[in-house]
Amino acid sequence: MPGKRILSGVQSSGTLHIGNYFGMMRPSFALQEENDCYYFIANFHALTSQPDPELLRQRTYNVALDFLACGLDPQKTVFFRQSDVPQVQELAWLLSCICPMGLLQRCHSYKEKLEHGLSADHGLFAYPVLMAADILMYDADLVPVGKDQKQHLEVTRDLAIRFNERFGSRKHPIFRIPDALISEEVAVIPGLDGQKMSKSYNNTIEIFGDAKAIRKKIMSMKTDSTPVEAPKDPDKCNIFQLYKLMATPEEVAELREMYLKGGMGYGTAKQMLYDKYIEYFAPMREKRKELEANPQLVEDILQDGASRARKVAQVTLQRARAAVGLE
Ligand code: ADP
Ligand code: TRP
Repeated sequence: MPGKRILSGVQSSGTLHIGNYFGMMRPSFALQEENDCYYFIANFHALTSQPDPELLRQRTYNVALDFLACGLDPQKTVFFRQSDVPQVQELAWLLSCICPMGLLQRCHSYKEKLEHGLSADHGLFAYPVLMAADILMYDADLVPVGKDQKQHLEVTRDLAIRFNERFGSRKHPIFRIPDALISEEVAVIPGLDGQKMSKSYNNTIEIFGDAKAIRKKIMSMKTDSTPVEAPKDPDKCNIFQLYKLMATPEEVAELREMYLKGGMGYGTAKQMLYDKYIEYFAPMREKRKELEANPQLVEDILQDGASRARKVAQVTLQRARAAVGLE
């Protein structure tokens, strides 16, 4: 049997960007060879911010294409749509019943979303409980995510421990306690303006956007006003940070040298970043085109994943139902 049980999800609430790719997708895909992976499209979660049904449908399909094009291997990984396993809602209710309000009130992500104009719906408030159900349902050992999800993992662990203490025993815990897997070097990928890249901040570079539009975005990246002749600090520059993610160590060393030596304008670095971006994602663009031509294949992969996921979910849910006295 392969190593650990790995689980992660991504909301279908926008277009995926390279912050998602380097922060969550690439580290997740790297784990497929040696482990037992479950990756899903969190479309229930996307409903907390998604008012348009057709858009939600389209975005969910696009995330499936993006994941498959970027390296998710459906032979090795169980890949599914969250809503195809409705059992997760029942588990979320069982967790809700032991979840103190204060635990959710402390969540930064909820407070930030309100600040960004989302309305204070119950779904948005209870978001971390559903996320805990996602994770506990599949007995995950490790959850690869970006740093912004760390607190949600803490809520998950807290709920699992409470549930085990109340309804299980030390010898027979109901849930496995998961750990977040956050790799420091990609914990926060900077966006065009140097803040965390996020679809909410309008500072993203899409994985699959129109190349011309992306070049325009890269060329408009915010930099400091060091003159062309002066030496520049690569480690404080978001262009360099992004280039580093895609280039070979030799190429990185070369660009570092160009920064430190002076005589290079940021425009040159931006052009190098754009060229590298195109080169890095070219094979994935090709693969995505092939998948786009075969929507039935994508649907079959998701259906197969859902049926495998439901089998695991059924067992966990049964255990939790019995523990609380519903059976
Ligand atoms: P967004 O911030 O654009 O709304 P999501 O919250 O949907 O992105 O994030 C999906 C996944 O990608 C999460 O695991 C998140 O931690 C990761 N992620 C998103 N943006 C970044 C970033 N800038 N750096 C590192 N990881 C990120
Ligand atoms: N909250 C995660 C995000 O915004 C998406 C998500 C939902 C998730 N359920 C999950 C991530 C379970 C990991 C595990 O990115």
